[in-house]
Amino acid sequence: IGKSIIHKTSTPSTQIIAHQAAQNDALHGTVVIADEQTSGRGRMSRQWHSTKQKGIWLSLVLRPNISPYLAPQLTLLTATVLADVIYSVTKIRPQIKWPNDILMHSKKTAGILTEMQAEQDQIQYVVIGMGINVNQAKNDFPDIIQTKATSLKIETNQTWDIVKLIQEILVTFEQSYDTYIKNGFPHIKNKWESYGFKIGKTIWVKTLQEEFKAIFSGIAEDGALLIKTMQGETKQLYSGEINWFQK
Ligand code: BTN
Repeated sequence: IGKSIIHKTSTPSTQIIAHQAAQNDALHGTVVIADEQTSGRGRMSRQWHSTKQKGIWLSLVLRPNISPYLAPQLTLLTATVLADVIYSVTKIRPQIKWPNDILMHSKKTAGILTEMQAEQDQIQYVVIGMGINVNQAKNDFPDIIQTKATSLKIETNQTWDIVKLIQEILVTFEQSYDTYIKNGFPHIKNKWESYGFKIGKTIWVKTLQEEFKAIFSGIAEDGALLIKTMQGETKQLYSGEINWFQK
């Protein structure tokens, strides 16, 4: 991981650069980093604010030899890597909000966007985008997200060395990825659940068809959210909308 690094001072999105690199035979582990993104993207076509030199805006090209159905495991793996690094440097224990938001004191510090190119049950490549808010002050965030977003600096009152953090993330990612390829998903699942936001608690589930309360019991092999209904039935959720805060 990180043997080949593409660095841009400014780019619309490191995801776009990573896709281009991957389509031009970039090696497994190629890293794309930018100081600034002018149209950073988040999940569900949302925007991702990527202010110059205030955070880590990084996309990783992977060529895993796994089934495309298992690709969500890579997102969960990445979330545990970011949580581990944040915990080891700040000593504040973050939480992972399913599927892949990293929270500190219930506010979002980092997000992950995984995009995959697959053909006939074979992964061509995966691009994992990571956005980590590092040195923003509160007013560096747009008004509308100020109550929901945070940064390492806001949480620790300390300015962080972005290059060192990137190194830490890549080293930790490599170790975790190697273990995953050798031993599979169980250790990632355990780690993810140890950081899991609201695990064991009641959540409000709202799907297209219905709304109900349930206990969030963990995650499945394929990254689905496991819940136990009040009737004691276990269910897996993929696209259900979850209202994390009790009504
Ligand atoms: C989310 O929480 O919605 C995911 C955010 C992912 C942001 C990162 S920043 C680096 C990479 N380039 C992008 O345009 N997005 C991802």
